[in-house]
Amino acid sequence: MRDLEKIRGSRVYGRRQGPALTKARQARLDEWLPKIEITLSAQGPSAAPESHFDLSLKDHWLEIGFGKGEHLAAQAKTHPDIGMIGCEPFLNGVSGLVDLVDQENLANVRIFTDDARLLMDSLPDRSIGRGFILFPDPWPKARHHKRRMVSAGNIVVLSRILKDGAELRIGTDHMEYCRWIMAHMLENPDFIWISDSPDDWRRRPDDWPASRYEIKSLAQGRKSSYLRFIRRPRST
Ligand SMILES: C[S@@+](CC[C@H](N)C(=O)[O-])C[C@H]1O[C@@H](n2cnc3c(N)ncnc32)[C@H](O)[C@@H]1O
Repeated sequence: MRDLEKIRGSRVYGRRQGPALTKARQARLDEWLPKIEITLSAQGPSAAPESHFDLSLKDHWLEIGFGKGEHLAAQAKTHPDIGMIGCEPFLNGVSGLVDLVDQENLANVRIFTDDARLLMDSLPDRSIGRGFILFPDPWPKARHHKRRMVSAGNIVVLSRILKDGAELRIGTDHMEYCRWIMAHMLENPDFIWISDSPDDWRRRPDDWPASRYEIKSLAQGRKSSYLRFIRRPRST
């Protein structure tokens, strides 16, 4: 396990807070967050995903950097028997997801409001049935590449927590980051890229709801890549 204190000490890159929330949104956040926020103890013990929910669920899926939560909420609505765990340190994004949880009365959503790496480190081996990293910040400058969410170290952790045969979905509209993601994912023998045709990675699958970032990017004329990987089944 990585040193949690070391990660905690490091910056979460990007904004944590944007414009001040309206009174109504702040009130919704204050009402909901105590019920659905995941908190980790300082020791960072292994906490099974089911321990964060008060209902019995078929499986648990993890979304890293859910932005304002449109994709996560859509998945939660379509799959009420799946526990959806989302990580997002940006407070206005957390508030966006809380609004959707409130509107749709989603009982199967839990939110971690800090660096996803802290939560990932707390999850037991083979505990997550599907992972999503949708449009992670590309950090285009070479000196910032170390901030990228898709990195060799984070892929090792994802490989540990994903179940045998679990799918990991990564979306990006940044071609250089797309090549980086492919190279880093395929360097790790635990993952297999799934592709049914030469260009299917250019089309969003029907069961992959659009996220806010993707819609904005399309409107600006950029093309996205929809990468799907399978956690190779372990031999034991
Ligand atoms: C470009 S946005 C995409 C948001 C959303 N996935 C979408 O497609 O609309 C990247 C998101 O990742 C979040 N993020 C960045 N670093 C993170 C980290 N260490 N843990 C969790 N989320 C993170 C940011 O706050 C931001 O909301």
